[in-house]
Amino acid sequence: MRYGYFDDKEKEYVIDHPDVPISWTNYLGVKDLCTVISHNAGGYTFYKSTEHHRVTRFRPNGIPLDRPGHYVYLRDDDTGEFWSLSWQPTGKNLKKAKYICRHGLSYSKFQCDYRDIDAEQLMFIPIEDDVELWDVKIKNRSKRKRNLSVFTYLEFSFHHVEIDNQNFQMSLYASGSNYKDGIIEYDFFYEPWTFHFFASNFTPDSYDCVRDSFIGNYRTESNPIAVDKGECSNSSELGGNHCGSLHKKLTLKPGVSIRLIFMLGVGSRQEKGYEIKKKYSKISNVDSAFKTLKNYWKQKMSVFKCRTPNPGMNSMMNIWTLYQAETCVVWSRFASFIETGGRVGLGYRDTSQDIMGVVHSNPDKTKYRIVQLLKGHTSKGYGLHLFDPDVFEPQENKLPGVKLPTVVPTKRPEDIIHGIEDVCSDDALWLVASICEWIVETGDLAFFNQIIPYADRGEGTVYEHLKKILDFSTEYVGNNGICQGLRADWNDCLNLGGGESVMVSFMHHWALKIFIESAEQLGSYEDAEKYNRIAENVKKACEEQTWDGEWYLRGFTKKGIKIGTSQSEEGKIFLNAQSWAVYSDVASEERAQKCMESVYKYLYCKYGLHLLWPSYSKPDDDIGYVTRVYKGIKENGAIFSHPNPWAVIAECKLGKGNRAMEYYNAILPYNQNDIIEIRQAEPYSYCQFIMGNDHTAFGRARHPWLTGTAGWFYTAAAKYILGIRPTYKGLLIDPCIPADWKNFEVTRKWRGTEYKIKVKNPDSVQKGVKSIKLNGEAINGIVPIQNEGTTNNIEVIMG
Ligand code: GLC
Repeated sequence: MRYGYFDDKEKEYVIDHPDVPISWTNYLGVKDLCTVISHNAGGYTFYKSTEHHRVTRFRPNGIPLDRPGHYVYLRDDDTGEFWSLSWQPTGKNLKKAKYICRHGLSYSKFQCDYRDIDAEQLMFIPIEDDVELWDVKIKNRSKRKRNLSVFTYLEFSFHHVEIDNQNFQMSLYASGSNYKDGIIEYDFFYEPWTFHFFASNFTPDSYDCVRDSFIGNYRTESNPIAVDKGECSNSSELGGNHCGSLHKKLTLKPGVSIRLIFMLGVGSRQEKGYEIKKKYSKISNVDSAFKTLKNYWKQKMSVFKCRTPNPGMNSMMNIWTLYQAETCVVWSRFASFIETGGRVGLGYRDTSQDIMGVVHSNPDKTKYRIVQLLKGHTSKGYGLHLFDPDVFEPQENKLPGVKLPTVVPTKRPEDIIHGIEDVCSDDALWLVASICEWIVETGDLAFFNQIIPYADRGEGTVYEHLKKILDFSTEYVGNNGICQGLRADWNDCLNLGGGESVMVSFMHHWALKIFIESAEQLGSYEDAEKYNRIAENVKKACEEQTWDGEWYLRGFTKKGIKIGTSQSEEGKIFLNAQSWAVYSDVASEERAQKCMESVYKYLYCKYGLHLLWPSYSKPDDDIGYVTRVYKGIKENGAIFSHPNPWAVIAECKLGKGNRAMEYYNAILPYNQNDIIEIRQAEPYSYCQFIMGNDHTAFGRARHPWLTGTAGWFYTAAAKYILGIRPTYKGLLIDPCIPADWKNFEVTRKWRGTEYKIKVKNPDSVQKGVKSIKLNGEAINGIVPIQNEGTTNNIEVIMG
């Protein structure tokens, strides 16, 4: 069953059946202000931090789904009937009311057609202002004059997620609202510098700032008393719960439409409210802000564009996967309907990986993130697993000069610098690749020499930071010469302590190879030699200790018991141990073929690759928390999405384009558009996991948006299937495609130059390049970097 479709021309996903099984979300905002919004306009806004600076309130994990939200109600003042512009919260009968939600790139549009009134609510956040705009259009399609009322509603949040959920003694009497000059202002006493406002481009007929006055104590957002009555009660108060409701009465003649603008902003009325109200009361400013936002995405998406015989791949690669990967980098992994504010900052491994996918489309933000991560890197070589990067920035003490009756914690580096007991063995290794990829993309070799402080003490150049990361993994090995697992490796639930993680040793080898290439580029040949020797030892240890006959082991417990062997009763084979053996160049050709065949045999299903097989049913704390997760869910035998692209890369390295595409297609959300009764989650976003075949809900996807899957699938498809890879020496073109693809095209902008690449496959091969022409001239191998500002035509014949 389908609930919507991809509109590639508009770059939108169109939900024409709004009664989807779970919330289908989108992200508004690309800078500091963000709203996570559902297909029913439910969700919340925050400014910079989901923990410290929340703007609107959300009751997470609740039912009805995703309440409250940013709503517009319409009321027919002749009959008293009312409805909302998004299907919820009024939930009109869908046989009588037509609702459409269009999720676009950093905007969402809610359209409603009911009682001969066409209405629309477009929501977005302009790039240059911290304000959420609601551009509302209402049209009378009927043949008679209509008397209507428009009401808005949003619920303000106490500013900190904790005080919004506990100890109301302090918060409930410390937030206040007031109304003046058409602007509702909301303040919070404990943070005397923080204000929010809500305004419109008209003079309201009535308003409510007090939530309970608008809704009514025994009602919900579905039937607020103010809307029911047709008028707000002009409430405002110091203390209590607050909302933004502005009301306007309209009389629309037949065929006439009207446009109303609403503004939810950060700052006080005086400092920002008046200015923003003035600016966006001018509708042309709203239009041009929206256009600027559209161009922002157009520009990003123009850096890599592909046209292939696979429509799902085209749609996901040219729009949705890049959008998802960018979202992970811009808002990190802590703003969704799953992570709703308790955890903030950067996950070391997650952010390091997310960077890799978008160095081409967002070089500035990725550099910013890299520097933040390096400041969270210790002089011992490991990264702080999860940290708030603001702690390492100069702190501005804005609190009043009196002691507050409640303790407002101040952030200090000492509180977050943890010791070895909390180190995840993979965390910092990812950063080696991200930094080198960023430098290859931008050509900014000087970045290697930039000095950045360590989190605990001292400072070093970026290059020195990288060496410390590699040295840490060389030092922390176990009895078999394999990297220790420590608190966890990539798998949060594999908690091996002093036991060993085979995946991390593969990763170590991979990171070493990437570093060596950079060292050579810099002319640091001694380092290159030294780290080459280390890489050889790592490879040797892996090949001697971790081969199981048909596949590679996943690790050893601290007691030396093998994990992921055919001898195990449960957890016999793990996906990552195979894909990484190949991706890291550790596996010999023969073992690589064998282990990837085992992956196909034991882990593959129609929705993608399982993380392990069979799922664990018996707790074993030497292996870790994974053995205590229900079978078929998350790390215990689900189709965990994030490792799937690694298997695609591994197959591409082996030259198996058919298999790579089979894996790519199986888990592609686009391909699950028509089985939403099984998938449930939005088909335009990869989810963290899909329930595995050991679970009764096999095929159900959960945790959209914030997963490393997006960045990695982007990489797997762009750099390995389509095979377009920037390198220090030039542009490498090395596709690995299904044999039945006759051709495909890619446009890639790189360092100010455009490459228009046409690939033909006359002999129906899966891999191999027979000839390359650059602007009509035959060349051998890598395409040399061309002059800035030029457009270059490249013709590739496979064979
Ligand atoms: C979650 C975590 C990520 C981890 C993965 C596997 O996605 O955010 O850090 O690698 O789970 O456990």
